[in-house]
Amino acid sequence: MTRVHPAPLAAALAGAALALAALPAATAAQPAPVAPAARPDVAKGKAQFARCMACHSVDPAKPRGIGPNLAGVVGRAAGKQPGFKYTPALAGARFKWTPEKLDAFIAKPREVVPGTNMVFAGIADPAARKALIAYLGTTGK
Ligand code: HEC
Repeated sequence: MTRVHPAPLAAALAGAALALAALPAATAAQPAPVAPAARPDVAKGKAQFARCMACHSVDPAKPRGIGPNLAGVVGRAAGKQPGFKYTPALAGARFKWTPEKLDAFIAKPREVVPGTNMVFAGIADPAARKALIAYLGTTGK
């Protein structure tokens, strides 16, 4: 009654085998995992940080590039990284980089700090900004 016709079964098995054979190739094309799966937001944020890396580092061995080092920036006073020559706009800032301030700045740098020379258009996607700030929060510890 439930006898399966051999031909379709063989075809189905061949299809499954093909799908399996394709898997390792697809996996190899992905970038290496960057953080434990327990913090997927951090992994996503680390990928977002690629947009900042032309000018910023979170490596303490690289205190500054075009922009100041951002290791431990969450909670840090704005415009006070020793040895970095800020614009007067940021050097004279009187606030801390809370997650909320960072979120607004990464969205529209010049609206939060008028006169900054950070030449960056901003990240419009709120989820991308949130992930990036979660990642920055893990740096400098
Ligand atoms: C084209 C270069 C460039 C890019 C790209 C860039 N920045 Fe900047 N960033 C700067 C410069 C230059 C400053 C210093 C601005 C000033 O003095 O007004 C700065 C300052 C900052 C500050 C203030 C740090 C402090 O010590 O107060 C933060 C936070 C920051 N950037 C975050 C980011 C993030 C996050 C990204 C990526 C989404 C990014 N920046 C992309 C050049 C850049």
